[in-house]
Amino acid sequence: MDAIKLLKTDHKLVKELLTQLEETSERATKKRASLLREIQINLKAHTTIEEEIFYPAFKKAGRKAEAKMYFEALEEHRAAEDLVLPDLLATDPASVEFSGRAKVLKELIEHHADEEEKEMFKDARELLSREELAELGSLMEARKEEVIASFG
Ligand SMILES: [Fe+2]
Ligand SMILES: [Fe+2]
Repeated sequence: MDAIKLLKTDHKLVKELLTQLEETSERATKKRASLLREIQINLKAHTTIEEEIFYPAFKKAGRKAEAKMYFEALEEHRAAEDLVLPDLLATDPASVEFSGRAKVLKELIEHHADEEEKEMFKDARELLSREELAELGSLMEARKEEVIASFG
């Protein structure tokens, strides 16, 4: 599969899960926990294939502007995965704080994914050939499966 298509499909899924999470109430604690788990797994799989495979290829194919996008994107992953998500995972799903924290994660991820799609992926289509994108896509699909499997 084309690398960009694969990443965009991931974005759509994670955004949908975050929307569902936002719509839950304090009473839906099991639903909140299971959605959060799904978000955590899919997010990890996605950021792993971006950081290990897609981003380095993008940075290598580009120049200064691409390097800047690369470092910015890494920081946004760090903010989402190392700061906001752990905080949400540690929040009681029956609490009133939960929905506000879920909203922060949703907005952060939406902003990041939109920026990737509008800037980085657009740029990548010009820098990388169709063959290169297909090759990256295959590597990413395989790696994604590994990450998902590692969650058991
Ligand atoms: Fe990303
Ligand atoms: Fe992404």
